[in-house]
Amino acid sequence: DIASTEVQELVSEMLRIVKGRGVGLAAPQIGVKKRIFVMEDTEEGMSDESEEERERKKRYPFKAKVVINPVLIPIGDASAAFMEGCLSVQGYRALVRRHLKVKLKGVAPDGKPINVDLTGWPARIAQHEMDHLQGKLFVDYLSPLKRQRIRQRLEKEQRRRA
Ligand code: NI
Repeated sequence: DIASTEVQELVSEMLRIVKGRGVGLAAPQIGVKKRIFVMEDTEEGMSDESEEERERKKRYPFKAKVVINPVLIPIGDASAAFMEGCLSVQGYRALVRRHLKVKLKGVAPDGKPINVDLTGWPARIAQHEMDHLQGKLFVDYLSPLKRQRIRQRLEKEQRRRA
């Protein structure tokens, strides 16, 4: 139930976490098995990238978006490969090819339907967050050997933190 305190508090928490730390977060990343993600990209967050770089990535600021029960549909065949990272895989980045354009559908926290077409970096963020809802990390796009190496390192770090 979207209007429930549980969901509303979860959404606020997720927005708090993502602010200033990343461009997206999915509920499973904070141990919640719900199909919800947030995404946001700010001028400040991309200040370490040149205008050229942003233009290449089609990266531009957009206001925080919360999507409940998201559905993603690729638009066309165009794709782009760029380096990306993840709050759950700190210290690593990898080249990942993703659809350039997607249609994102879902429901907003106020119950209103979401139906937007995304291009470039926002489309990439949405695809990355959708993967989290299926337990998939960007490292899963790497070769088996590289993936294994990173997964092992992550597990070791998790054990150390536990
Ligand atoms: Ni991530």
